[in-house]
Amino acid sequence: MRKIWFATGNPGKLKEVQEKFSKYGIVVEQLIAPYPEIQADTLAEVVESGLSWLWGEHGKPVIIDDSGLFIDSQKGFPGVYSAYVHKTLGCQGIIQLMKGASDMKANFQCCAGYMNEDGDVTLAVGRVDGTIILEMRGDGGFGYDPIFVPAGHDRTFAEMSLEEKNKLSHRARAFEMLAEKLELNRNDAP
Ligand code: IMP
Repeated sequence: MRKIWFATGNPGKLKEVQEKFSKYGIVVEQLIAPYPEIQADTLAEVVESGLSWLWGEHGKPVIIDDSGLFIDSQKGFPGVYSAYVHKTLGCQGIIQLMKGASDMKANFQCCAGYMNEDGDVTLAVGRVDGTIILEMRGDGGFGYDPIFVPAGHDRTFAEMSLEEKNKLSHRARAFEMLAEKLELNRNDAP
């Protein structure tokens, strides 16, 4: 049974990833290892830098992820600054920013990355499109979930059950793709 580590402090994410990877016969264990998150322009750069730091520290095959909310009319803001903007301005700050905007389109993106024992990196990006609404709805989820309605739905992520959100989410898509890529790489191996 193949074993890899997931560096996260979030038990919800861990469970989601364990579920996805178990289908491929991969066991995922939690690695409690807070790594420095660099200030960069893209999620991929943040992930690549975190992976090489972790590899230097632990030398284990490890997965990490980084995600954010990208608003079309705000040129992708808050994007890579999503965590900081949520901590400082919150959903209300985004609502204020979007008042009067005619284009409410936004998307969540997640970049999931894996580094093997040899230091080779595999990245996968997942995305879910939707719209921002000007009120907070729902008690579930976290972050910007109460103001994000995924395309084709009329409820926010915060109004959905965790199972429902996990089927649609950027993170689910990124991890699904990453698991598939790792499985393909394994089949390519001699
Ligand atoms: P992280 O990559 O999971 O640390 O996410 C960075 C930030 O993006 C979080 O602090 C949230 O503000 C926002 N974010 C990422 N994923 C989600 C999501 O699924 N729902 C709501 N907000 C999210």
